Amino acid sequence: MLMNSKNIIISPSIIAGDLSTIGRDVAGFDPEVIDLLHMDVMDGNFVPNLTFGPGFIKDLKKHTDIPLDIHLMIEKPENSLEKYIELKPEYIVIHYESTKFPARSLKLIRENGIKSGIALNPATPVEAVFDLIEYCDMILVMSVDPGFYGQSFMKGAVSRIRKLKEYLVSTDYTNVKIQVDGGISEMNIRDVVSAGADVIVAGSSLFKGGDINQSAVKLKKAALG
Ligand code: DX5
Ligand code: ZN
Repeated sequence: MLMNSKNIIISPSIIAGDLSTIGRDVAGFDPEVIDLLHMDVMDGNFVPNLTFGPGFIKDLKKHTDIPLDIHLMIEKPENSLEKYIELKPEYIVIHYESTKFPARSLKLIRENGIKSGIALNPATPVEAVFDLIEYCDMILVMSVDPGFYGQSFMKGAVSRIRKLKEYLVSTDYTNVKIQVDGGISEMNIRDVVSAGADVIVAGSSLFKGGDINQSAVKLKKAALG
């Protein structure tokens, strides 16, 4: 499949950066290449790691105009969703595995003018969210077990993305984006984009390799092969 680089959305995962200086660092992020900022909210319960909550995101937002992409790795997101909605991000993504009532939360996100997304852990069949697609603007296919940056890409994600893409095309939901998150680098971005991914989250490969803007340009180029 031939893709135009403009169609690939890059969303750096800030937990792979230095959170003590990120407020200053984001001032240097070029909005021409950094399309979104990926915020990994972890509660030490749904995942075995703790990061930050809405207060941190609110403060960070003052330092950048790049739209926010909030990935909630928290149990029962319905209990604190309002606090993330108040931040007016571009996306709020909840996990399928974190709630018994995903449709209610997805609808609430949308009713507030925010794009809604549902994430799937690698062990969750993609078919699990087929009945939720009508409430979603984006589906996040995890390519690692969530909890930490710097993990190795699980290659099963490629066929999962392809299966989801085929379903979206066959059901005329081609406006629903596919996001991929975990272990993405120049080595595998082409595979996930060819399979149908539109929004690429990258942590280590963007923050650990020098200038983030140059790394993002290189990543987009690698997506085209
Ligand atoms: C994993 C997080 C990811 C992670 C990405 O739980 O959701 O966003 O930080 O970092 P890399 O690209 O290093 O896997
Ligand atoms: Zn994430």
